[in-house]
Amino acid sequence: MTERQSWGSKLGLILATAGNAVGLGNILRFPSKAALYGGGAFMVPYFISLFLMGLPLMIIEWVIGRYAGRYGHGSMTGILGLFFNHASWARILGSIGVAIPLLICMYYIYIESWTLGFAFLSIFGEIPTPVVTSNANEAIKPYLNFFREYTNPSATAYFFLLLTIAINWFILQKGVKKGIEITAKIGMPAIILFGFILGLICLSAGNWKGFEGLKFIYNLNFSRISDPVVWIEASGQIFFTLSLGMGAIAVYASYTSPREDVIKAGMWTAGINEFVEIVIGASIAIPAAFAMFSALAIPELAKEGTFRLGFITMPAIFMSFPLGEYISFIWFLLLFFAALTSSLALIQPLIALFEDEMKWEHSKAVNISIILITLGAHLSAFVPNFIDELDFWAGCFLLLIFGLIEIFVFIWIFGINNFYNELTKNTNLKLPKFFVYIMGILSPLFIVFIIYYWVIKDFENIFFIDEPNKLIARVFIILFILFLSVIAVKSKKIIMRDIRYLKLMKNLDR
Ligand code: PHE
Repeated sequence: MTERQSWGSKLGLILATAGNAVGLGNILRFPSKAALYGGGAFMVPYFISLFLMGLPLMIIEWVIGRYAGRYGHGSMTGILGLFFNHASWARILGSIGVAIPLLICMYYIYIESWTLGFAFLSIFGEIPTPVVTSNANEAIKPYLNFFREYTNPSATAYFFLLLTIAINWFILQKGVKKGIEITAKIGMPAIILFGFILGLICLSAGNWKGFEGLKFIYNLNFSRISDPVVWIEASGQIFFTLSLGMGAIAVYASYTSPREDVIKAGMWTAGINEFVEIVIGASIAIPAAFAMFSALAIPELAKEGTFRLGFITMPAIFMSFPLGEYISFIWFLLLFFAALTSSLALIQPLIALFEDEMKWEHSKAVNISIILITLGAHLSAFVPNFIDELDFWAGCFLLLIFGLIEIFVFIWIFGINNFYNELTKNTNLKLPKFFVYIMGILSPLFIVFIIYYWVIKDFENIFFIDEPNKLIARVFIILFILFLSVIAVKSKKIIMRDIRYLKLMKNLDR
């Protein structure tokens, strides 16, 4: 058996997991959700979700990832199997946890390629020049057309998609230590530096009018506290931004040593992510939009969707600043680094599945994973609405369901005491046992409450199919989960053989 991969250093591990969590979610998704759902009114459910659900799940994934790594498993297929003696049904259930990050990656990587493409177009002066007008819609029009043409998709877009996939392939081939870790060591400081520069530019824009935007986000208030949609969106953002509910954190944790302090690591991951979200992420897009347009225009702009804000509104704003093309270049480079360190994390669960469960060698595992991603990315690029369907099912719905499964298995099936032993093993901070009860009772109740309001109340809208492309996307999702389920069952034989072999060796030793 070949040795499992591992991280090179403590700092590398922290930066890599921070890079996993910090992504487009922090810099694009967060400000548009905050703007759309009332700024300060959104932040109250946001913080409550962070503490009741985000932090507990972050710690659970770290604890379980470290535990499963000791037994040679990193993917959710193997991890769930571990708790049920590798019963087929458990491994199949775990496959959903591998499918989610992969399905997300199939559109995430396409958007990542836009950021790289737009960075180049900015520096080569290809982004349209601004029109002087106080009307937000007029100001944005040339940028809207530019974006539409680009994502049609144009030949340039296609080229950058292939390039982005190639970059991901290259880094993943180098492995966890020499690939992902080194990328994070360069990417994370770059993200923070570029973020600071842009934050300062945006806050100070229009004679510090940008500050109004920050005030809008931090004007905490309870005006929408009873609106279920705001709760759903806020908690969905917590899942997405912290990379929870899909084993993406657990797979990174599985490459740590059994002596790693998982509570510390979890707190660092969440801490850096939240810093980049609520400090840096809050200081760029919304303040810039406030400085440029009237406050009234903000929710209107946000309504246009998460990606519009990043690829249409922001270039429109930046190009009207002095040295606009350079600011725009930094903006897209920031987005690219953030997205790259996350897309690597979205693919790693599949690589772990092939390596740990099928015992494939690293290079083959990466190649097959990248081929699957390339296939999905083509569908995202060429099938209209494919992105939105995937984002809804994998990026929202399944995340919540799988988060619930994780809590149930890792706390209740594993057992409160076993979990607590793992939680306190080699950790400096000894959390009191009642935290496990919060994790095991309060967090799942919170998730069930959210699913109830969201899915049950909106049942028809969610399941109704009003156009054929949605059907294509849903069939694809089902086929993909089926494919991973077949692997889960087939690889079971290999795992059971290894377990028998180990037992035999132990007996011979005696
Ligand atoms: N957390 C990432 C972001 O904010 C997205 C992501 C989710 C990355 C899951 C990896 C795994 O963009």
